[in-house]
Amino acid sequence: MTFSELIHTRQSVRRYAATPVDSSAVAACLEAARMAPSASNSQPWKFIVLDEDPLRTDVAKATFSDIQLINKFTVQAPVIVVIVIEKARWYTRLAMQVKKKEWPLIDIGLAAGHFCLQAAELGLGTCMIGWFDEKKLQKLLHIPAGRQIGLLITLGYPEDGYSLRKKIRKPAEEVVAFHRY
Ligand SMILES: Cc1cc2nc3c(=O)[nH]c(=O)nc-3n(C[C@H](O)[C@H](O)[C@H](O)COP(=O)(O)O)c2cc1C
Repeated sequence: MTFSELIHTRQSVRRYAATPVDSSAVAACLEAARMAPSASNSQPWKFIVLDEDPLRTDVAKATFSDIQLINKFTVQAPVIVVIVIEKARWYTRLAMQVKKKEWPLIDIGLAAGHFCLQAAELGLGTCMIGWFDEKKLQKLLHIPAGRQIGLLITLGYPEDGYSLRKKIRKPAEEVVAFHRY
């Protein structure tokens, strides 16, 4: 697959087959995430892998409720990765204060992107999950106080017949500008 084919192949997968994911495939995705760039090379992330029940199901259940069912599909995913935002290096934090920016959020987004693209290359499906019960997850996963969870990623083989959807994106003319805003 060329890079541009990979870009078009990756999509959010919300229906998974029960097929387990080989640990070497999970390791490859984690390695891709680990190699992502970050501000001052701070690498402000920790990836918690959930691939065993009952914890995996408990984590999935923290992404939906009786009234918010959008993430119910997460229970099907054989693997869930929770990305914890770690502290950036002291000088990065200082620079962030000066520049009033939150670079670790950008950093974990890049790592998550790497993860999902590597998964797509291996024929695996992913979905980034930004809606979750953070308190519940912090307790379940013994995440130290003061650490935030940035994102979850579901990982697994797409259900049989899960087809590639058309990517709905804003037109280039709307999102790209040359020379001025
Ligand atoms: C930060 C972030 C949070 C997201 N949260 C959720 C979520 O909670 N549930 C979900 O089903 N999809 C979630 N998504 C997936 C987006 O809906 C999806 O990426 C977008 O619609 C584009 O579709 P595509 O990934 O298939 O290209 C999230 C994506 C990002 C980047």
